[in-house]
Amino acid sequence: MDIINKVKNLRDEEKRLEWEGTFADYLEIVKNRPEVAQTAHSRVYNMVKSAGVEERDGRRMYEFFGSSIFGLESAIERLVEEYFHPAAKRLDVRKRILLLMGPVSGGKSTIVSMLKRGLEHYSRTDEGAVYAIKGCPMHEDPLHLIPQHLREDFFQEYGIRIEGSLSPLNTMRLDKEYGGKIENVKVERIFFSEDKRIGIGTFSPSDPKSQDIADLTGSIDFSTIAEFGSESDPRAYRFDGELNKANRGMMEFQEILKSDEKFLWHLLSLTQEGNFKAGRFALISADELIIAHTNESEYKSFISNKKNEALHSRMIVMPIPYNLKVSEEERIYQKMIKESDISHVHVAPHALRAAAIFSILSRLKESKKQGVDVVKKMRLYDGENVEGFNQVDVEELRKEYQDEGMDGIDPRYVINRISSTIIRKEIPSINALDVLRSLKEGLDQHPSISKDDLETYLNYISIARKEYDEIAKKEVQKAFVYSYEESAKTLMDNYLDNVEAYCNKNKLRDPLTGEEMNPDEKLMRSIEEQIGISENAKKAFREEILIRLSAYARKGKRFDYNSHERLKEAIQKKLFADLKDVVKITTSSKTPDESQLKKINEVIARLIDEHGYNSVSANELLRYVGSLLNR
Ligand SMILES: Nc1ncnc2c1ncn2[C@@H]1O[C@H](COP(=O)(O)OP(=O)(O)OP(=O)(O)O)[C@@H](O)[C@H]1O
Ligand SMILES: [Mg+2]
Repeated sequence: MDIINKVKNLRDEEKRLEWEGTFADYLEIVKNRPEVAQTAHSRVYNMVKSAGVEERDGRRMYEFFGSSIFGLESAIERLVEEYFHPAAKRLDVRKRILLLMGPVSGGKSTIVSMLKRGLEHYSRTDEGAVYAIKGCPMHEDPLHLIPQHLREDFFQEYGIRIEGSLSPLNTMRLDKEYGGKIENVKVERIFFSEDKRIGIGTFSPSDPKSQDIADLTGSIDFSTIAEFGSESDPRAYRFDGELNKANRGMMEFQEILKSDEKFLWHLLSLTQEGNFKAGRFALISADELIIAHTNESEYKSFISNKKNEALHSRMIVMPIPYNLKVSEEERIYQKMIKESDISHVHVAPHALRAAAIFSILSRLKESKKQGVDVVKKMRLYDGENVEGFNQVDVEELRKEYQDEGMDGIDPRYVINRISSTIIRKEIPSINALDVLRSLKEGLDQHPSISKDDLETYLNYISIARKEYDEIAKKEVQKAFVYSYEESAKTLMDNYLDNVEAYCNKNKLRDPLTGEEMNPDEKLMRSIEEQIGISENAKKAFREEILIRLSAYARKGKRFDYNSHERLKEAIQKKLFADLKDVVKITTSSKTPDESQLKKINEVIARLIDEHGYNSVSANELLRYVGSLLNR
């Protein structure tokens, strides 16, 4: 019943938004809210902007895309700021076809469909409202009714520039239905809808021999010729091509570089001149954003052909590379799985991360910078701290290759491999090792991996595996400690007390007996040795920590477990070293005794409750880590 109510509400809402009036009434609206008369490009830009823009590290993040596009912030920033924004300001770029160019399954179609869905929604809001001449198949802009010679006056009064001339059909209707009185022409509010073919179109080339230009520009309606007497009567023409229908909004041109030239020339005149030719009529004005997409190899062969120069110069190419951040890649997979029919399967924690590590490695190019291998580069790109490097280095690394991210493993390959493993094995749960194995097994058949690359890719799989091993060990060790954070904090506080006493040449007081005692050198060393601090370097290290500590105190900030990257690592390693034997014996014992069994159950419960495992994946993890520790 709930859904029926919702449908009803939706219908009521649509009713509420409907508006119809005369052109004179419409001018009142335009006077109060000039934005209703904006161009298609401007509408797209304002739509993107109105979803929110967040400034982060001197970079603008457009939240419009944030819900479904991950890790492509700079490509999106470029798209918005080098195309949408200037196009909205009526600069020259809007006269060019927007061509998204990038590797397979890198998110091009997703971007286009977000824009389409976004426009449908936006046209139902106040800021995004669109009005059109009622009964016009191209939902023509009502302002076209203003005669050319009065447009300067109109601009003076309203501050709005009118482009394009009244279409042949509406010219005739104005004459026949309204006796030339433009103020009486009926205007209505329209709502973009791809399904209803209002303001949003898609053109997909098929066989050029059978495909007709009519698909783009409409065709003669033979059934009505008799009624209207002539082929050149616009009432005997169906303005129902994609270019007609997409007027005021946007048209997606799929596989543009595969399409026949005759189609492309129509597009060129439309983008360049703002009009196109249909049937035996004067040029028809149209206002729409044309967005096309292609992959790099197709694009390269297109530009290498001299014949395409004219076309090429009328396109604006926006690269859409693959995402290069491991954490964002994980989100991409999560999203794709959620949308797929394997969403019921339990994916063990870190399984997608392992796959993401492999994919990102395959997309990165070796840096020429000293001391940066691909794994370090991968970490830096993902925003992790890597000894000796910082985010300034990341900028430099990114500048080393303009075309990084244009090849490598695509997200669809990963998801296909995961699905096929799940379906083939009918398993209710999948872990990182299953995922890596299935990725490896599929490499042979991957169309874009050559024999030479295969070796490199296998190496990436084994790096991903090693990274996962470390993650898995940490996870289990953490689960072995009753309260990991608590223990780490206690150990660190203890260490800091000792360091303070050592540096200030003080004594500590035993909390139980109140006796004075010397700093515990053994404890401090046991922690410092974990990160390779030598006997000679210990003093400097301790002093550095103390300076950091007092800097924090001065600023009124709490120095905690996460405040010092190296100390954190040392504490973690120390905790794990103390645990190692327990973990090793417990996890690998074939016949655990009663207390071991109790511990195992405790750990498994913690993995399930706090770390997102189920009982199958938790048991698998324990067994695996047991075998790792025994190597
Ligand atoms: N950066 C990304 N953020 C979010 N999802 C992504 C990203 N890259 C790819 N995807 C996902 O991968 C799948 C394939 O993407 P999409 O179809 O948009 O790619 P495409 O570039 O159009 O590919 P093709 O060239 O094969 O047509 C989609 O499910 C998409 O959501
Ligand atoms: Mg696509």
